[in-house]
Amino acid sequence: MTIKTNNFNELLENIYQRSPLQKKSIKSYLSTKNQTFFDEAESTITNYKAALSSEGISIKTIADGFVQLCNDTLAEQIKFSKSGKYSCPSFEESSKSVYHDKIVMLSYMLGLLVSQYIWDNHNKMLDFFKECLLSRSNDTNNYLEVGAGHGLLLNIALDLLKAKEYEAIDISETSIELTKKITKHLHPNRNIQFNYTDFLTYDSNLKFDFITMGEVLEHVENPHQFLNKIYDLLSSNGVSYITTCTNCPAIDHIFLFKTLDEIRLLIQDCNLTIIKEFSYEVKAISALTNNSIQAHNYCALIKKNA
Ligand SMILES: C[S@@+](CC[C@H](N)C(=O)[O-])C[C@H]1O[C@@H](n2cnc3c(N)ncnc32)[C@H](O)[C@@H]1O
Repeated sequence: MTIKTNNFNELLENIYQRSPLQKKSIKSYLSTKNQTFFDEAESTITNYKAALSSEGISIKTIADGFVQLCNDTLAEQIKFSKSGKYSCPSFEESSKSVYHDKIVMLSYMLGLLVSQYIWDNHNKMLDFFKECLLSRSNDTNNYLEVGAGHGLLLNIALDLLKAKEYEAIDISETSIELTKKITKHLHPNRNIQFNYTDFLTYDSNLKFDFITMGEVLEHVENPHQFLNKIYDLLSSNGVSYITTCTNCPAIDHIFLFKTLDEIRLLIQDCNLTIIKEFSYEVKAISALTNNSIQAHNYCALIKKNA
């Protein structure tokens, strides 16, 4: 039976209207996807719409967030192809202009949510994340998520793990509130601790069996500190799912990894071992730089050195 994708279709129609040039490429990408993909996309958009309707957030608002993300990313890619540098100078600047600006942050997080389905790189990373969760579903008592953002990953972890305790951290009040809303909507009876704080100042008596930190390392000035902190918070058999990127500019990216090996070396330097990894080449940057720069998304499941 084919499930109707009313809300997802409405989202796509809104995107095509605002950004007609994307229609052909999105349609061609979606033609490769199966029914499970459409069911998940429909369910996600329907749930976010329901959870956020009391805030006046509609499907159009969500589509606007995605189009804004695409426009911002393209502008950053063009700047980066000329300068070879990320444009955001510091964490102080990204905190002020992005994380603590409610309008900018909400639009950004809603856009990033949609990208999990409409951008092939993000969707493939989401599949890798589910694979990592499923490989640990029986060995995880407690779960921590750093930089929960839009809240989608936390809610997938709530579905796929059998953990007893869940915690989410974010430095942005907008992100933590958005994560709280969608989680209370999808998992009303689960006991989850939400922390509105900087990960570097976070403290816990617990050691975690699974720590997720998606798209945070490139947003900070010293990624070493973040992986060291992950090391300190992991239980002896615990694992961490991390993602980052090379040469992928965004409005709030600060730390520039130039090669995948720089990321692998950083992991190694923090006494962590890669269990499995996935990378995806983002073609836009090579096209803009006549192949002189390669951009990648990178994800890995890591653990403490034996
Ligand atoms: C790009 S979003 C990633 C969202 C989601 N994890 C994903 O992978 O799609 C990065 C998130 O990390 C948060 N963040 C950045 N620096 C942080 C810090 N020092 N402590 C906690 N959260 C942080 C931001 O507020 C934002 O919500």
